[in-house]
Amino acid sequence: MYFHKYHAADNFKVTGDVKLSLEKLNGSSIYRLTAKSKRWTKNHSQAVLSPEKIKRDVKCSCSLSGKRLSLSINGKRFLESDASLPFGVSGNAWAMSFVYDNDMQFYGQGEKNNGFEKSGSFTKFWNTDVWGDFTPEQYKNGVTDPMYVSVPYLLIKRGNTYAGILVNDPYPVFMTLNAKLDWLPDGAKSGVVIGASDGVPDIYIIPGPTLDDVTTALQRLVGTTPRPPLWALGHQQCKWGYRSHDDLSAIAARYKKENIPNDGLWLDIDYMDGYRVFTYNKKHFAAPKQQIGKLTDAGGHVVPIIDPGVKREKGYAVYDDGMKNDVFCKTSDGEPYIGFVWPGATVFPDFSLPAARAWWAKQVKTFVDTGIHGAWIDMNDPSTGKSELADMRFNNGKLPHESYHNQYALGMAMATREGFLKSNPLARPLLVSRSGFISTSRYAAVWTGDNFSNFHHLKKSIEITLNLSLSGIPFNGPDVPGFGGTPTEELARKWYKAGFLFPFFRNHAILDAPHQEPWCFPTATKNVIAKFIKLRYKLLPYIYNLFIEQEHSGRPMLRPLMYDFADTVALPLSKVSDQFMAGDALMHAPVITEGAEKRDIVFPKGMWYDLSTGAWISGGRRRSYDSKQDATPLFAADGSIVMMQTGERTDNQNDLTDVEAHIFMRTAIHASVRYTIDDGSSFNYRRGGETHVDIVVKKNGTSLAVTIAKNGASLPVGISFIIHGAAAAISVNGGGNTTLRKGRVTLAGNPLAVKVYSRFMV
Ligand code: NOJ
Repeated sequence: MYFHKYHAADNFKVTGDVKLSLEKLNGSSIYRLTAKSKRWTKNHSQAVLSPEKIKRDVKCSCSLSGKRLSLSINGKRFLESDASLPFGVSGNAWAMSFVYDNDMQFYGQGEKNNGFEKSGSFTKFWNTDVWGDFTPEQYKNGVTDPMYVSVPYLLIKRGNTYAGILVNDPYPVFMTLNAKLDWLPDGAKSGVVIGASDGVPDIYIIPGPTLDDVTTALQRLVGTTPRPPLWALGHQQCKWGYRSHDDLSAIAARYKKENIPNDGLWLDIDYMDGYRVFTYNKKHFAAPKQQIGKLTDAGGHVVPIIDPGVKREKGYAVYDDGMKNDVFCKTSDGEPYIGFVWPGATVFPDFSLPAARAWWAKQVKTFVDTGIHGAWIDMNDPSTGKSELADMRFNNGKLPHESYHNQYALGMAMATREGFLKSNPLARPLLVSRSGFISTSRYAAVWTGDNFSNFHHLKKSIEITLNLSLSGIPFNGPDVPGFGGTPTEELARKWYKAGFLFPFFRNHAILDAPHQEPWCFPTATKNVIAKFIKLRYKLLPYIYNLFIEQEHSGRPMLRPLMYDFADTVALPLSKVSDQFMAGDALMHAPVITEGAEKRDIVFPKGMWYDLSTGAWISGGRRRSYDSKQDATPLFAADGSIVMMQTGERTDNQNDLTDVEAHIFMRTAIHASVRYTIDDGSSFNYRRGGETHVDIVVKKNGTSLAVTIAKNGASLPVGISFIIHGAAAAISVNGGGNTTLRKGRVTLAGNPLAVKVYSRFMV
């Protein structure tokens, strides 16, 4: 476990002095703390930060007195340095500590499976190939820390006030959060300690006061996720072992036959010729472009895996060209660094070099020209097999491994995206990466790596996704229903139900696991899986709009309850790690316990419409709830409008222009939504190619007065109004009262009686 070498805290003895400075970033209410000293030559971080995108005016003050930092929000002291070690250096390592108060709670930290709330923890940030570095017992049932993605970001909560600390240091950062350790950096008392083994301290302090304020500011600082193509939000089907055109076309045909929508057709490593990146095995793909074209014409989207390791073999064009252009990582002797991954001896592009990134982008471009729609970038932790990672150096062998390790996947994502856009500047690609760093969000989504088909991982998957959402990587999700092992019917059913609203939604399994496509399960289970995939597609207009909102404001699609509701003593939300909001309209409380269909649910204040039964439930309390095998506890907030596709969705032929506006109104007398549509695939939306439909509903007794206004590009939009809640009549745009007709719709359980006003064209 290489990362232990960079465990900076346990031998930290304060040895020197540095000069700290604090500045407020123009107009952003974000503070930046930096330190100057000859010991650090340069900040080698490649994170792309854009403070200029953040205009906020927050009532807060941050000051530095000597080395002591103090942050107040709304006139109240929020955070202050601990006098025992306000800031110290030990050789090239640095550490700072803050006074701990027992009303503090901690979140964020990117991709970690050390729990939703992190008090009492110690962690390090070091991108790790989890199955390579932990024992099977640990990765099946334990806590594997660190994992693949490093985002050294700490979110601190005190009551309902929040602030974030982002450490833009690519070296291994560590954090101890009131952990009961028998060691701490020299001088530090037990408390909140943040430090790194090396690297220029470059620290962003983001005061709230609300969680939305902090999270959206962080997201705009590190970069929001560019709008994905609509198909990327559909269901993705993958399996280690899919390797040929015939495999993918059989999968696509089967989805069609089963009437289950699916978009992504993924290829794992065996499609390549002897694991040589950027090649197809002729046996499996005799004519890649035509064959991928056929899959595309049939509505599929092909996403092959791309690994960074390039087979060391003279005569293999990618290797020869890379050697000629001198783009591979070197050892301290200036020799190419050799690792051992799928093809045997491999060399690795040095993504720290702009020239190597440009070279990689060129390879990607040629490959994308075969018609693929996205790429799955794997093994970029980087994983190099039995070779010592420390020997892999960067910038022509000049920079030590740990200066770039955590950024390797970021560099790969940057270059890969550039290659896609070079091949097709008009198409939005889907890139999904295993590892990542600060600002990966600008280039790629992440999936949460190799998990296991058990209830432990199902539970963890929610905690991991929620914290990634709060840490600037909102487009993420786990392998459903688990990568390693064999999912039982019950697990498959429960994981699909828990995961169908996750931002990234992919079924994937390891080579030696049995197939786990929906039809591999007995009919009753298959039907439940199908039902929730279909519900995802029905909800795509809503989900797509959450991604659009994310791109503009930085608001994550999936978030914990405390994001949208106040945490109170009577109804604590800060530890609710098995429920979440998908946008502000839907609350999901999946049943994730083996053997149970019943659970306790925390209903935040307000009225909640049960999408399985049509009942309204009053919130502000915790209640026991009975679910069913073919249903899931999914609730809509009173006063919300959720845009959905029409009818039951049985394929991926989406239509954003013919939709249902589901109006949920019980005690609320006002609801509104902005519904945005575009072509779902190109960048034209950046040049005016999107239509906004603003819907406002006012309730007066049992009458609904709806106004609809449209602006932007003139796409015709047809909207049916589906009303959940008491309403007898509706008038649209002042057109006089119309009686509603009775209808039925199935959402997350039984068919529901609804009232319908159909179809209004705007
Ligand atoms: C490791 C990845 O995490 C996994 O998803 C993939 O199937 C294997 N590599 C093989 O490519």
